Amino acid sequence: MPQAEFRPFPSTEGVIRCGSFSVEDLADRYGTPLYLYDFDFIRTRVRTFREAFQDTGLLLAYSVKANGNLGLLSRLGTLGVGADIVSGGELFRALQAGIGPGKVVFAGVGKTEEELRAGLEAQIYSFNVETVEELHRLEEMARERGGRAPFGIRINPDILSPTPHEYTRTGHAESKFGLPVQVAVELYRWAATRPHLHARGIDVHIGSQIVEQAPYKRALMSVLEVVHLLRKEGIQLEYLDLGGGFGIPYDGESMDIRALGRELTPLLKDSELRLILEPGRSLVGEAGLLVTRVLGLKVAGAKTFVITDAGMTDLLRPSHYGAYHGIRPVVEVENREVGVVDVVGPVCETGDFLALDREMPLPGPGELLGIENVGAYGFVMSSNYNARPRPPEVMVDRDEVFLIRERETYGDLVRGEVIP
Ligand code: LLP
Repeated sequence: MPQAEFRPFPSTEGVIRCGSFSVEDLADRYGTPLYLYDFDFIRTRVRTFREAFQDTGLLLAYSVKANGNLGLLSRLGTLGVGADIVSGGELFRALQAGIGPGKVVFAGVGKTEEELRAGLEAQIYSFNVETVEELHRLEEMARERGGRAPFGIRINPDILSPTPHEYTRTGHAESKFGLPVQVAVELYRWAATRPHLHARGIDVHIGSQIVEQAPYKRALMSVLEVVHLLRKEGIQLEYLDLGGGFGIPYDGESMDIRALGRELTPLLKDSELRLILEPGRSLVGEAGLLVTRVLGLKVAGAKTFVITDAGMTDLLRPSHYGAYHGIRPVVEVENREVGVVDVVGPVCETGDFLALDREMPLPGPGELLGIENVGAYGFVMSSNYNARPRPPEVMVDRDEVFLIRERETYGDLVRGEVIP
């Protein structure tokens, strides 16, 4: 039975909640800035994908790059979710979290020999290959080790995907990702003559934060063309990986996963391939809230600044992509004056902001704000610039709360450094 989807971080009696906890209480307990995740919401997202694509033999390979925290990953693993990884480090994380290697796909435009070896040793499900050299290297390594290396080729379908920022488009011909169809077909033909290679599938990923169905349909059609061509030549694949990139409602529109399932499933029907999807953002993005405390307000000319204890080191997306994240008071105060402000962090950069020209109730010093939709590409893109320890991560699952990453200490900041 499809369940009604709930929104994470509802307000009750004027206070934002997470599971059965008050966010104000959690901020007192763990301090600020604080990354907070609602796992129960992630669970509903997993269910939505599974229901939407139930007739496709779906392998849901969570894109670890979106949020690789071990606590979160391992709980996703217990739901039977696999992993889409892009580095040896992400392979390590996925295995540490208990995700079965048979559910791991390894993407990435530049894999090193050590990373390929680690994937072979772990016996992952497949390497999504992005260069000719990579497949040659894989063949050589599999030959030396004995056994067969499973692979798919990432196709570049030459689709300019409608993403909010050019940095997150990956499907057009002039991007560094994937291989042109003709090159891919030649590679499959070559691989068919190599006993140590196992052509297991085919892959495409067209970009991130896409809210329209049409580009996925187009990508799927162009991949299916290759599948049919190969089949005629006796090369039978097992999976079709359509990547991730499904958009979430940062400031309005999002991808309707169920509608996408209805649109794509019939096209897959007679392909006899199992579908792999690699959602990152759409599983965890909305499940994250960055809780920050207001340090002060400053009026400078026509500008009003709200200065918070979180900045670009904690959440890079606003300054890097001009990304929009909703900001709400954690505890509502009635009859607040509304103003237009820049919400800025303490980092010594003018580009250090969380929101520009945002109309919002003017908070007082010491009050808490919640920055929304930070579960994906939030903590993972944080840094220690300005020698700022990174915030803790806390995961709530209904009436349970777990500290899944401690706040960094000054000792952590200098770990590995040497005074000669
Ligand atoms: N599969 C591949 C091969 C990818 O490159 C990506 C994302 C995904 C799956 C997952 O995409 P998602 O479902 O999360 O959109 N830092 C940027 C996003 C970069 C995405 C890179 N690749 C941001 O903060 O918007």
